[in-house]
Amino acid sequence: MSNNIRGGDAPIPCQLEADKNYAWCSCGHSSDQPFCNGNHKKEGGTNPMIFKVEEAKEAYLCTCKQTSNPPYCDGSHKN
Ligand code: FES
Repeated sequence: MSNNIRGGDAPIPCQLEADKNYAWCSCGHSSDQPFCNGNHKKEGGTNPMIFKVEEAKEAYLCTCKQTSNPPYCDGSHKN
């Protein structure tokens, strides 16, 4: 069992750089949303999702952790 929570109620627009590894917080416990700050270890949450993009772009990253398309917002925070 994982101890995940909502990390926020709306996505955060982020400027992503090409070919850089990002650690998206999947557990909701990070105070550095939408990215992992290591809190999943002490809170018993799920591990971060490591991802990168091929081209620099702005993306709306999920903070509610309900998205079906992590790390991106799919509108699930409105549910
Ligand atoms: S703090 Fe949430 S995945 Fe690391």
